Amino acid sequence: MGEVSWPSESELNSVKKKVAEMSGRDAKEVRVVVSPYRISPLGAHIDHQGGTVSAMTINKGILLGFVPSNDSQVVIQSGQFKGEVRFCVDEIQLPKNAIKLNNLNQQNGYGPGEECSWGNYSRGAIYALRKSGNHIRRGITGFIDGAEGLDSSGLSSSAAVGVAYLLAFESSNNLIVDPEENIEYDRLIENEYLGLKNGILDQSAILLSSYGYLTCMNCKTKEHKLVQAPEINSQYNLGKNMKFKILLAFSGLKQALTTNPGYNRRVTECQEAARILLQASGNEWLEPLLSNVASEVYDKHKCKLDPILAKRAEHYFSENKRVLNGLDYWASGNLEEFGKLISASGLSSIQNYECGSEPLIQLYKILVKAPGVYGARFSGAGFRGCCIAFVDANRALDATSFVEKEYTMLQPELASQINGGKVVLICDAGDCARVI
Ligand code: GLA
Repeated sequence: MGEVSWPSESELNSVKKKVAEMSGRDAKEVRVVVSPYRISPLGAHIDHQGGTVSAMTINKGILLGFVPSNDSQVVIQSGQFKGEVRFCVDEIQLPKNAIKLNNLNQQNGYGPGEECSWGNYSRGAIYALRKSGNHIRRGITGFIDGAEGLDSSGLSSSAAVGVAYLLAFESSNNLIVDPEENIEYDRLIENEYLGLKNGILDQSAILLSSYGYLTCMNCKTKEHKLVQAPEINSQYNLGKNMKFKILLAFSGLKQALTTNPGYNRRVTECQEAARILLQASGNEWLEPLLSNVASEVYDKHKCKLDPILAKRAEHYFSENKRVLNGLDYWASGNLEEFGKLISASGLSSIQNYECGSEPLIQLYKILVKAPGVYGARFSGAGFRGCCIAFVDANRALDATSFVEKEYTMLQPELASQINGGKVVLICDAGDCARVI
């Protein structure tokens, strides 16, 4: 495996020091979960329909320092959010109306990021572990910290946080859990505890990725493979002249996915399209997921879908093809063609999945014409947050100045709120989540 530049010793030490202060224990006893953010160059919005996705992690993410408690108490503080989370592991039950959790917190006077909203992820982790039959007796004293100055919207911060808590509680309770089980546990946190109808792309990328590979996941069969790009990888091993960098361009728009009705609505639209297509082909007994519809059935019966459902289905079927073609280009080190597919995927998100917002669409259009950019698209759910691009490593700085100048001209107010006007962050690939 090549070298991953994150986390640095000083980042690890500062989290350990904080936990030592909170718990009165020695900093040497503090364990740290490293949970990276993910990007998905191809395979957007098809995971919840059982499609095939591609992903990798980046060298930025969440650090969760913790020590096991002597009892069932959980005490957590955050580097980003106010308040302290305190509960006992045996208190956790499924909230009566999961979908309303975040809204409820806001009505009760909590801001979206404050306790008890941010504490729901640790509670959700206990819920998922216990629901799956694990014996959780010990809590943790922990400190969770996101990458400094980085707005993580669109980079799967929720899954990175959920996975971090799962790994910390498992480590504290001496549980050996494989990544596949943790993918399911994180699904329980997000789908059941938080009420989001999302797929398993995010946590699969975080748990399965390996530095120097593209992770490919079939979200229906749950089979995955790691695809190495020979040419690109030999450059990783040299540790210099990496052919590409990952460019993150932030829109300045922030909103929790659980409070945005657009995501769940589109999932329902895809299911409705699947239901109509399955019925038309005499397969109504199958679960209404687009992955249960053969592409010939789609071609034959797509005329039966109303215009909105037809667009959602078109995104699904065209995106699956882009993923499969993209893997071949990636494996042969052809970043030019791989990049063109990423931009085509971005366009399909705008035209067929209709999930952008004006600032994100502007960013996408700027990125695809920026110097050295192979391809770009919205990251994550694509209603807020950021766009990602693969960019020629030698031209990353030119691309950065171009994007910052153009976006600041179009959205001066939003741009000024991002990290003091730093719209762009250049990153490298990362590794999987782990406890160190
Ligand atoms: C969010 C969801 C994922 C996936 C992406 C879009 O990140 O959490 O499950 O649907 O959006 O690809």
